[in-house]
Amino acid sequence: MKEKLDGIKRDAIAMIESAETTAQLNDVRVKYLGKSGAISLVMRDMANVPKEDRPAMGKLVNELRTAVEGALNEKTELLAEREEELKLKAEAIDVTLPVDGKRTGTLHPLTLIRRELIDIFAGMGFSVDEGPEIESDLFNFQLLNIPKDHPSRDMQDTFYINDNIVLRTQTSAMQARIMTTQKPPIRVVVPGKVYRSDDDTSHSPIFNQFEGLAIDKHITMGDLQGCLQTFAQKIFSKDTKVRLRPSYFPFTEPSVEVDVTCSMCHGKGCRVCKGTGWVEILGAGIVNPAVLEMCGIDSGKYSGFAFGFGIDRIAMIKYGIPNIKLLYENDMRFLKQFN
Ligand code: DAH
Repeated sequence: MKEKLDGIKRDAIAMIESAETTAQLNDVRVKYLGKSGAISLVMRDMANVPKEDRPAMGKLVNELRTAVEGALNEKTELLAEREEELKLKAEAIDVTLPVDGKRTGTLHPLTLIRRELIDIFAGMGFSVDEGPEIESDLFNFQLLNIPKDHPSRDMQDTFYINDNIVLRTQTSAMQARIMTTQKPPIRVVVPGKVYRSDDDTSHSPIFNQFEGLAIDKHITMGDLQGCLQTFAQKIFSKDTKVRLRPSYFPFTEPSVEVDVTCSMCHGKGCRVCKGTGWVEILGAGIVNPAVLEMCGIDSGKYSGFAFGFGIDRIAMIKYGIPNIKLLYENDMRFLKQFN
């Protein structure tokens, strides 16, 4: 019996020593100390040992059990330590490795231009306002001297929400809102999104406009021209010239269309200006006295000028962007060029 116990002890200790993982060690624990493990079986066999030998045998079996348990516990601790070490090694981060360059965002070209425009006009004493994109027919059309069924509504392909509500087709709608709520002197610019059912390389159903309005005593076409001249030189280049051509808008009288010398060829003639040396950039004029009166401003006492243009168009001319869609597709390859 004693030999048998020594054999068990020798085998168990050898297995414990050669175990390399806690899983293997657990198998050893089950094999010897489990319910039907070798040591448990020996203890169950005690019933067959002669009565007088039992105390001595019991002592031996207990010693065996203690020795195997002790060896198991010691090795368990050792393996746990080793496994923890391996895990830490595997999870280690090499802080000296070169990293992928961090990608920082850039401002959208329309944001860049809008900010530049606001700076330019703020420098001339204009404040900045914003208004709703879902607008009533009253502000978008009627108070701007465009009654219902007026033929000039055909100039703009309007998205109607119902008979009286539209997606604003022009930031000019804010002229009416401002004139009906503020007293002159007024000097304000309004950047914002506008909508029209129109879609080609130079038109997008959603685009951005920039409106200007100045109302005071003795405002003339000369003030408008001077203001636009300053704006054009600042946004394009110092040698930019401005030209006013007679035109028609219901809310201005007289009305003008405004061209600037081409910023690509400086007036020599190129693809951008179609060889003319000039590019059209905006509509403007003296605020129609009928509009002043409809909005509650005394046209005998006050006059004003107004202008409006597409921020997209300015960006396209300034950066040489051939298709307006590029401004709305959010293609990173395009956007990251503007820093
Ligand atoms: N709202 C006009 C358009 O979208 C542009 C415009 C023309 C605005 C003349 C004005 C203006 O303020 O006076 O085509």
